[in-house]
Amino acid sequence: MIRFIPAEQTLALRSLVLRNGLAEQECLFDHDHLPSTFHLGYFDDTNTLRCVLTCMREKHGKLAKEAYRLRGLATHPEARRKGYAKALLNAAIAHLKLQLEVEYLWFNARTVAFPFYESLGFEFMSDEFDIPGIGPHREMFKYL
Ligand SMILES: CC(C)(COP(=O)(O)OP(=O)(O)OC[C@H]1O[C@@H](n2cnc3c(N)ncnc32)[C@H](O)[C@@H]1OP(=O)(O)O)[C@@H](O)C(=O)NCCC(=O)NCCS
Repeated sequence: MIRFIPAEQTLALRSLVLRNGLAEQECLFDHDHLPSTFHLGYFDDTNTLRCVLTCMREKHGKLAKEAYRLRGLATHPEARRKGYAKALLNAAIAHLKLQLEVEYLWFNARTVAFPFYESLGFEFMSDEFDIPGIGPHREMFKYL
C-alpha cells in the first residue's frame, strides 16, 4: 500500500540505502518540510515500510516549465525487484500530473539506477558528473 508519509519516516531508509548508515538527522534534505514537498512510502503486506521517495518543487534551467525534483528514492535491500519503486514512482507521477499539474520531473540519477529509470521512460539530460562522497550521476527527466 502506498501512503503519504512525513519526512521523518523516510530517514531510516535514506540512511541505510543512500547514506551508508549516516545518522538519520543528517539525512534530512533542504526543503523536506516545505508545504510543496511530499513524501511517499510503500508498505508491504506486514505494513513494513519498504520504499520511500521525496518530490520537491524545483525548477531546472534546461526545462522551461514548472518542475519537480525527485530525491531520496530507496528500496530496502531485501525488498528489491518486487516492483515497489516502480509503483511508488508511478504514484508520485500521477499525483504530480493530475493533482499538481506539473509538467516535468527531473533528478540526479546514480549510475546504478540508470536501468531502473530507463525502464520507466526517463531520459538523460546531462553527461556524467561526480557528487562528492556519493559518486557519479547524470541528470534525467521525464515529460509527464
Ligand atoms: C533503484 C531502486 C530504487 C529500484 O528499486 P526496486 O524496488 O528494486 O525497483 P523495481 O522492483 O520497482 O524495478 C522496476 C523495474 O526497474 C528495472 N530495474 C530495477 N532495478 C534494476 C537493476 N538493478 N538492474 C536492471 N534493471 C533494474 C527492471 O526493469 C524492474 O522490473 P523487473 O524487476 O520486473 O525486471 C533500488 O535498486 C535502490 O534502492 N537502489 C539503491 C538506491 C538508489 O540507487 N536509488 C536511486 C538514487 S538516484
